Amino acid sequence: MITDKKSPYRLVSDEKLVELRAREDALFLKRTPKAEETFNNAKKMLLNGVPMPWMGDWGTTHPIFVREAVGNRLTDIDGNQYIDFCLGDTGAMFGHSPEAVAEVVSKQVRLGITTMMPTTDALDIGTELGKRFSLPLWQVAMTATEANRYVIRICRTLTGRPKVLSMNESYHGSLDETLPHIGPEGKLELRSEYDMNPAVAKDALSRVVEFNDLEQLERELAHKDCACVLAEPVMTNCGMVLPDPGYHERLRELCTKYGTYLVIDETHTFSNGYGGYTRAYGLKPDFITLGKSIAGGIPVAVYGFTSEIATLINQSFGHQGVSDPMGVGGTLSANAFAIAAMRQTLTTVATEEAFEKMFAGQERLSNGLDDILKKYSIPWSLTRSGARCELQFMPTQPRNGSEAKNHFDWELMYYTHIYLANRGVLITPFHNMMLVPPVATDEDIDCLIQLWHDCLAELVECSEGN
Ligand SMILES: Cc1ncc(COP(=O)(O)O)c(C=O)c1O
Repeated sequence: MITDKKSPYRLVSDEKLVELRAREDALFLKRTPKAEETFNNAKKMLLNGVPMPWMGDWGTTHPIFVREAVGNRLTDIDGNQYIDFCLGDTGAMFGHSPEAVAEVVSKQVRLGITTMMPTTDALDIGTELGKRFSLPLWQVAMTATEANRYVIRICRTLTGRPKVLSMNESYHGSLDETLPHIGPEGKLELRSEYDMNPAVAKDALSRVVEFNDLEQLERELAHKDCACVLAEPVMTNCGMVLPDPGYHERLRELCTKYGTYLVIDETHTFSNGYGGYTRAYGLKPDFITLGKSIAGGIPVAVYGFTSEIATLINQSFGHQGVSDPMGVGGTLSANAFAIAAMRQTLTTVATEEAFEKMFAGQERLSNGLDDILKKYSIPWSLTRSGARCELQFMPTQPRNGSEAKNHFDWELMYYTHIYLANRGVLITPFHNMMLVPPVATDEDIDCLIQLWHDCLAELVECSEGN
């Protein structure tokens, strides 16, 4: 957890925020006594009381321990119910445990989980992904991190180049190549949230540029040592940052000009539609990577590429006809259970109609939030993209990762999140992103709008009293 950043547009004094936060912490403790006790026990056998670091990073005094999550409703072990707009940070984008997926996986679990042999479901997912994303050939991994890692490996082999270029403050999984960011003196360094320095020079494997800065991009690509650019089409992990008009076209041209592969990471931006941002905006990447939500939350990820790349892979790795020509491994990847879940999610859950509902929900939510900002003249901005929107503590939308990060305010953000959680709504930790699933009703969305209204009205009232 990082607490030193503070937005100049905080609204309230530091003292007032501490006072309000103490009130919310006390309320949270009162609502979640079983979770507190469980957390104290968990610390005896789990590092920091959680099975994975992010689970302890919600800003609350202890984690919410989940009893059940179905649709957009989550119930904790203390019996509190929440309307969920975090949705496992995208993994459950279409709602928790969609019925159609639950049915198929409960059958598959009795028919074999993992055999290291393909099932015929794999053909259906290949066809479906090809139709959606316009890339003909696909491979399966377990997580988006892994899919990105495998694609980087392929790009390095095909180009003979060592480096990966990513956008400043982006996130593509725990990859040493993309964790560095541009430090205050313009040199690459690890970000404080990832301060376990791997024993490699920060610039040995990485180049980093600001999103939307085409001059900087060309300057870095001109070194001709980047195997690929790995980019989200809209930045979604440092607050949301939209591309300038024409940015993606020029990014494509520059990658071609300098012989660098273009990898578009659709892991989050799948929320922009049936074929992700790529289809919605006609992007032309060499590779697409995608994970998290494509199997209803069951761990699986995919990467797709062109036929030309498929030919090169077989030539370059020199083992045509062998099942592992790329040395990418992953014993459990493409297991029958995950593939069945992905087939069912893609064919019956992540439908065009589902996306239509998600977009309409986002619009309702965003309009409601915009009205609040206007009503109280709050100098914050709202960024909308597909089924997501994000409140940022700055008057204009950020154009790059630095601008977004420079307006982070962890204390203020955690305060608002705990305020919402204490009143029965969850949003994404780490920033103010809200994702609207197809199962959210207008009433659910209005409830979130009302809570933001009450939270912000109080902050404004306190600021006037300062
Ligand atoms: C854009 C993007 N790519 C890749 C990943 C890595 O996903 P996972 O942690 O499921 O491997 C993330 C995780 O947040 C992400 O946001």
